[in-house]
Amino acid sequence: MPLLHVENMTHYFGGLRAVHNYNLAVEPGQVRGLIGPNGAGKTTIFNLITGIYRPTEGSITLDGEPIVGLQPHEIASRGLGRTFQDLRLWRHMTVLEHVKMARYSTIGYGLVGAFFGTSRRHREEEAIERKALELMRMMRVDDVAEQRVTNLPYGAQRRVEMARALAMNPKILFLDEPTVGMTPGELNEMMDIIKQVRDDLGLAIFLIEHRLKMVMELCEVIQTLVFGEVIAEGSPEEIQNNPDVIEAYLGKDTVET
Ligand SMILES: Nc1ncnc2c1ncn2[C@@H]1O[C@H](COP(=O)(O)OP(=O)(O)O)[C@@H](O)[C@H]1O
Ligand SMILES: [Mg+2]
Repeated sequence: MPLLHVENMTHYFGGLRAVHNYNLAVEPGQVRGLIGPNGAGKTTIFNLITGIYRPTEGSITLDGEPIVGLQPHEIASRGLGRTFQDLRLWRHMTVLEHVKMARYSTIGYGLVGAFFGTSRRHREEEAIERKALELMRMMRVDDVAEQRVTNLPYGAQRRVEMARALAMNPKILFLDEPTVGMTPGELNEMMDIIKQVRDDLGLAIFLIEHRLKMVMELCEVIQTLVFGEVIAEGSPEEIQNNPDVIEAYLGKDTVET
């Protein structure tokens, strides 16, 4: 059974059909890519699966359980982590606070523990701190742990966002254009980090990306979306050589490679 399974998902914004008959099956540990021109419906697909919007039609299961109609935080706590195309960080919190906060949301102390500081609570605090440090090292933001995120360069802010998503222990991580707006140096660093997440954490990744080189290098299976419909699905080689994809997408001079 796939970890994440989307069947016949369609979504309308008023009269606009943004997504039509979309299907997806992600296996545990698989790295998937979603490409397509601006406005194709990629972010909408993320928002539908993560519970921001409710699909007009279709079913979605995570680990075999239906998730349509659940709140975004409920879907997140069932193992779906995400980052946003536009960064969503809290201005006044430090890097460490961001990552710890996300981690807290995954555990429950119970009221007694919270009031009286039981030893279980102390053990959990320590574990949270350790895990946060481990993730910050992996995302290469451990050296700025005590800084407010708004003081960091853009590339580092994106890596904090990723550390925060990973702190919730997802089974699958959704990344929406993780390198958009980055300098070439930041971009290479992000590539390395995504590879490391893929190889060391073994979780599934679903990546929206505009830069083809990056999807081709990272993903096992890629879907190409045009006007809300998947026009091709396959390995990087298959996608690169598909005439429909070349016509609809690769031929466009707006695409960065
Ligand atoms: N909340 C919304 N309300 C109305 N239309 C929307 C909304 N979000 C996205 N759209 C429209 O849906 C289409 C797909 O958008 P989007 O999913 O953001 O594309 P992509 O991420 O592929 O660039 C676009 O035509 C966009 O204008
Ligand atoms: Mg988008």
